[in-house]
Order: sequence, then C-alpha cells, then structure tokens
Amino acid sequence: MSQMSRRNVLAAGAVGVAGVALVGCSSGDDTSTSEPTDQATEPAQTSPAAAGEELVATADVPVDSGVIVDAGETKVVVTQPQAEQYVGLSAVCPHQGCLVNEVADQVIVCPCHGSQFSITDGSVVQGPAMTGLSPVPVVVDGDQIVLG
Ligand code: FES
Repeated sequence: MSQMSRRNVLAAGAVGVAGVALVGCSSGDDTSTSEPTDQATEPAQTSPAAAGEELVATADVPVDSGVIVDAGETKVVVTQPQAEQYVGLSAVCPHQGCLVNEVADQVIVCPCHGSQFSITDGSVVQGPAMTGLSPVPVVVDGDQIVLG
C-alpha cells in the first residue's frame, strides 16, 4: 500500500468514526433499538407484570409527583398529578430504552440523555425522546394502586 492510499484509508476511517459518533449523539429522531451506551445505567427490562399486582400504596404516591416502582421484571412510574388521580406509565424510556429514575418538578427524568416526560400523561417535555412514555393501566384497589 502506497503512502497516499494509506493516508486515504486513514482519513476514511476517521470519517467513519466521526459518523458513528454522530449517530451516538443524534437528537433522538432515529428509531434505533440499539442498547443504551451508558453502561452505568440499569438496562431496561420488558417482561410485563400481571394484572392485579400491587404496585404501591396510594399514600406513598405524592400529589403533583410520583414514584417509580417494581412491576414484575420491569418498573412502572405511578404519578398523582392531581389529588386521587393516578397515572401509570412505563419506566422504559422510548429514546433508547433506559429506565427513567427520577420524578421531580412535575417531570419524569431519564438519566441516559436527559429526556423529561410529563407526570400527567407521559408526554415529552424535553428530548431527545420523540415519543412519550407508554401508558400502563392502573386502578385503585382499597389503599393500593394495582395493575389494571
Ligand atoms: S434513553 Fe436516551 S433519554 Fe432516555
């Protein structure tokens, strides 16, 4: 391989690396199902829990906020945007599949790339996620929130 062709190959390799880096930093307009790149974040689990499974006591879900609870092998966000109005949402971020990990200031936060979702309906408040959290049916059963 000549000096010139080796240089061209190296340049092409650099462009390829830059292209991969750009894909990794995309603004979320892709529909990639690739794994999250943040290894410090727990990977999302998707096995559904059974209907009727108790998720959390109603008293443990703060008004105007919410909690993230275990549901089978995955997690569910239970919020209470208004008194005695409970909302269930998947904790799996639709951006690249991380689990959201915080409910604060009326938003649900994904730690991987900073997406934020409304506690009212899971809609996107801040990207890069382009779609909101999926709804999870929940009902009040006595003093418990259970899967619907
Ligand atoms: S996985 Fe990227 S913001 Fe949630």
